[in-house]
Amino acid sequence: KASAAPRLAPREVWLYDPGYTSTACCRSAITFIDGENGILEYRGFPIEALATTCGFYTVAYMLLEGTFPADAKVRAQFAKSIQPGLDLDPVVANVVESFPQEAHPMTVFMAATAALSASRPAWNPALVRGDGGSLRLVYRTRAERQRIAQECISSLTSIAAAVFRHMRGCPVRFPKSTQHLREHPLDAFAPDGFARAFLHAADPEGTLWPEQRHASAVFAETLDVIFVLHADHELNCSTAAMRHLTSAGSDVLTCLAAAIGALYGPLHGGANEAVLNMLEEIGSPEAVEAFVASVKRQERKLMGFGHRVYRSYDPRAKILRTLAQQVLREASTEGRTANGPTTANGASDPLLIIAQTLEKRALEDPYFTERKLYPNVDFYSGVLYRAMGFPSVFFTVLFAIARTVGWLAHWMEMLERDATDAERKIVRPRQIYIGKRRQRIPLEAVE
Ligand code: ACO
Repeated sequence: KASAAPRLAPREVWLYDPGYTSTACCRSAITFIDGENGILEYRGFPIEALATTCGFYTVAYMLLEGTFPADAKVRAQFAKSIQPGLDLDPVVANVVESFPQEAHPMTVFMAATAALSASRPAWNPALVRGDGGSLRLVYRTRAERQRIAQECISSLTSIAAAVFRHMRGCPVRFPKSTQHLREHPLDAFAPDGFARAFLHAADPEGTLWPEQRHASAVFAETLDVIFVLHADHELNCSTAAMRHLTSAGSDVLTCLAAAIGALYGPLHGGANEAVLNMLEEIGSPEAVEAFVASVKRQERKLMGFGHRVYRSYDPRAKILRTLAQQVLREASTEGRTANGPTTANGASDPLLIIAQTLEKRALEDPYFTERKLYPNVDFYSGVLYRAMGFPSVFFTVLFAIARTVGWLAHWMEMLERDATDAERKIVRPRQIYIGKRRQRIPLEAVE
């Protein structure tokens, strides 16, 4: 008779931890989170200080290298090496063009990233015999890994820009890229330089955001801060996927494509798009009450709320909340947001008002506070992206651009470890088998 009781292999003690809520599988010196007190630090520096004083170039360097750039020359060299370009690898361009314009940009982005791997066979790790005679999986020298990581950031940001152009019906291959860049050189020293470079690559001819050229400085600065806030977050689902594949010896671009796939999920990075859809569905501040009631009946989730690690307000959400108010005020001084007229008094985007009403309502309700459900980074990022004129389906690609740095910082950190280090072992969790065990194939199944 089959038993429903878990069956364990003999002589082994296993920890059964679904969702890995309390299992650490590596040590890391990249990001520190104190979830109880809402603290986030990159390399020991508080996120609030980084977001107000450093641009994405500097933060990216610091996450990858563990230190700030030694001088302006090092910073400029690094900025140039991660800058997105207008030229695409032909394989990648073909892949992007093969998708219908209305395909979800995360699918196109993931497929194009995986396809780039076909053009970089030299980036595969190699099996070599180490000093002790054992076989080791080696991923080149540190200098080569640094160069590969920088090229990955530049390539993935260029792909993201091309995906944006494609979904807007513009050519994926930019015909006059060299001449264009000569005429419009990018400033690697600007504090918001990385966001500006991405916006430039996404819209080289300046035709896609005609109504907000006036506000581009504020939007580029804000986008750069959003990139800083999203750059790393220790062992979240997508970073865990990155480390998981790295442990199997997959090449870096395949690892990145898998991480993009994990980020796409609505419980992870895809929540920013889901928040916007939810706010649009609620439709008005008056409808918030009924929506909250349906969440409390557990018919819905309050997207952009809750976090596995934070048991208090996500510090990134606090920064984004303030930014959203500033950006929308700025947009409203011109009489309109990127998505249409502002509210009657010109104060703000209607969706921001719904978001604020929803947040206030949830934070006053013991249902949410007892479960420690507070806004997370995705709650306000969508409102900001919308104010900048990005379509909601593109939000998670913007998240992925920034998180690529974190994924690569973890990739570098993992490969820094000696190949015999236990943390370089292939990641292979165990399961508890709860199925039946049977001896005979039933007669009717015999072919
Ligand atoms: N809305 C309503 N209830 C929620 C929510 C939510 N967003 N999140 C958690 N809960 C409830 C659960 O139903 C559960 O209630 P119960 O104890 O009565 O069963 C309790 O809070 C605990 O929730 P878990 O699902 O166990 O929490 P977990 O740590 O596994 O999940 C997660 C974290 C996935 C982020 C979850 O809070 C969620 O789905 N949030 C909405 C999606 C979202 O915003 N994701 C972005 C996260 S940030 C990022 O990835 C960049």
